[in-house]
Amino acid sequence: MSARHLLAIESSCDETSAAVIREDLEVLSNVVLSQDEVHAPFGGVVPELASRQHLKAITPVVRESLLTAGLPLAAMDFFAVTQGPGLIGSLLVGLSFAKGLAAYHDKPVLGIDHVQAHIESAFLGRSDLPFPVLALVVSGGHTSLFLMKKKLHYRVVGRTRDDAAGEALDKIAKFLDLGYPGGPVIQKLAENGNPARFPFALPRMSDRSLDFSFSGLKTAAIRHVRENGLDRNAAALPDFLASFESAVVRALLGNVVRAADSFRPRSLVLCGGVARNSRLRAAFEKTAGERGLPFALPSPKLCTDNAAMIGALAWEKIKAKKGKIPFSRDLDAYPRSPR
Ligand code: KG4
Ligand code: ZN
Repeated sequence: MSARHLLAIESSCDETSAAVIREDLEVLSNVVLSQDEVHAPFGGVVPELASRQHLKAITPVVRESLLTAGLPLAAMDFFAVTQGPGLIGSLLVGLSFAKGLAAYHDKPVLGIDHVQAHIESAFLGRSDLPFPVLALVVSGGHTSLFLMKKKLHYRVVGRTRDDAAGEALDKIAKFLDLGYPGGPVIQKLAENGNPARFPFALPRMSDRSLDFSFSGLKTAAIRHVRENGLDRNAAALPDFLASFESAVVRALLGNVVRAADSFRPRSLVLCGGVARNSRLRAAFEKTAGERGLPFALPSPKLCTDNAAMIGALAWEKIKAKKGKIPFSRDLDAYPRSPR
């Protein structure tokens, strides 16, 4: 029997993406069209503009992914699409498109959770990670810690109570008029800065929870900016940004360490857009090394939103169902993670 193929679509926020994945998880194409330029003048994603851009981009992006894979639509055995969480108008574009394709070709369509798919991006090419896995998903919309006893088994053990880490980076960059998205801009400007120059106290949760909070760090950063008269041209800017970036990294990894102490996982995963950050990657590798734990860190392209991660999780679900594939096209978008 020839190998089966799946077309995956992701449109939850401001990237339109389509990927073709074979059932052995070989990624034949993973086309990502970013809307950064559209949202940059506003310093953040404008939901209405995002859905309009997805509408324009979805057909050419899907066509390009099929061309790159060298396969026609009719060769797809399954369709998979991000069902949530995300911006409702953006999600609906991908979801409606995928449902339409599936209906026309009379094939199953699977709704996939975006945050769980971020974790799956770490398993692509790393099928050897021992469970339980402790996974930190850190992006512009999410900052959550998951404990996975086994594949497809997700237990949230910590989540942000306010801003996501990437959102905090984006907002500070916006406040200083540095550009959008803020994470990569801050990384570049902070490269040669002294991370010890501006002290940032880390948030303390009153209970023993593993939740995150970034709004206090953001407020402290804005206070430093005002008190030190910093602006985008200040000589102290690299030191300030390195200090802020390093505080975000310490806050993230502090919870990873505490969660590892409580749950004794056998491996660690770091994923999501902020996992592109080199300071975070280096500190995460060091933490894993100190504990003697194997770890997975997706390549930068697989950290930010992409459809390959959606397709990879879809295949896991199909394989777990052992042939009993849900054939329902009755999928609704969900803007927030179900509790
Ligand atoms: O996963 P993603 O593409 O979208 C969401 O699901 O939110 O993540 C986007 C986030 C943005 O906040 C962006 O600033 C951040 O990832 N980001 C980074 C870097 N590259 C992207 N943050 C820090 N350093 C980077 N190099
Ligand atoms: Zn994401």
